[in-house]
Amino acid sequence: MKKKILVLTGGGDCPGLNAVIRGLYKACKSDGRYELWGSKEAFNGVMGEELDIVRLTRRHVGGIHAKGGTILQTTNRGNPCAYPVQLKDGTWTTKDRSKELVQRIKKLGFYAVVNIGGDGSQTISQALYEKGLPIIGVPKTIDNDLYATDMTFGFNTAVQVATDCFDKLVTTAESHHRVMMMEVMGRDAGWIALHTAIAGGAEICLIPEIPFNLKKIIRQINSRYKKGKGFVNMVVSEGAKPQGGTTFGARSKDAGDPHVKLGGIVNQLRCELEENGCRPQIRGTILGHIQRGGTPSAFDRVLASAMGVKAFELIEKEEFGKMVAYVNNKMTSVTLKKAISKYKVLDPDHYLINTARSLGISFGD
Ligand code: F6P
Repeated sequence: MKKKILVLTGGGDCPGLNAVIRGLYKACKSDGRYELWGSKEAFNGVMGEELDIVRLTRRHVGGIHAKGGTILQTTNRGNPCAYPVQLKDGTWTTKDRSKELVQRIKKLGFYAVVNIGGDGSQTISQALYEKGLPIIGVPKTIDNDLYATDMTFGFNTAVQVATDCFDKLVTTAESHHRVMMMEVMGRDAGWIALHTAIAGGAEICLIPEIPFNLKKIIRQINSRYKKGKGFVNMVVSEGAKPQGGTTFGARSKDAGDPHVKLGGIVNQLRCELEENGCRPQIRGTILGHIQRGGTPSAFDRVLASAMGVKAFELIEKEEFGKMVAYVNNKMTSVTLKKAISKYKVLDPDHYLINTARSLGISFGD
């Protein structure tokens, strides 16, 4: 009898998820002793009222490495440790269903589980591992904020999308002599913003790690218009904040989603700049989810495929409780415990911060 592996994708979607599934499938297939199953919408496929799992075949995975999203669908409202439950009066509460989930997976005869997800998903992986589930994590996020891996797939695609959009905004800024602010994702880490600002040749880049000073930004913008008509292109991370201030966002209204939803800072910033003496016209663009939808870049397809294959290798060696990691140009692994112990934000001494400053990019500090 073949050993059954269950794979699932959790949290936000990300370009490259399908390439991981395909890599894992192909590795299982070539070994011959394993078969791969998928759980729909993260663990909901196992925990839902009706079982929603599928045995993956060539028909499901053929050619999916080039496809965005996830063929298994995903959710950020399916945390088994704090599962959303609606009460009779319509309000919501949460219940720890992790023990029940582990029992269900074992009863279904699965030998191992591969959880492809970000920090939240890998925290769940660790909790399930501690309850006796043989589980492997594969890191994913466009934000690139996972400690213990140098790079996550999805990040490269997001930066490319953002840079392509930025290039378009540069030509309209030049034509209208305007200040164009482009807001990018990244949560509390400025990786996408910093890379886009360097790749796109921004004048100003605002990131969460370096709180900005509004007056300084206004001075910098106005100085670009000293000789008459200028233009300014800015990249603003959704998690950017003023010195002594807080990020612009609100707690998610979705039951079971623990995240604060960031977004919209450029609208707020535009008003504040205008009210405080910024002379030129200002426009804001929020890129939003186009940064993580659609076709993965070639780099992300390669990284994701290699991670899928590595996940299989860890299963074969029974190295459970670990997360695949890409470190110093090598595919390796770390314990889930270590992987979730820290959040990877930009160090102000990072060489790319220095590069940006030397290129004349201001962080508004
Ligand atoms: O973590 C990925 C990410 O796209 C963040 O950059 C962003 O803040 C968040 O997810 C958006 O979440 P949602 O898709 O739930 O709105």
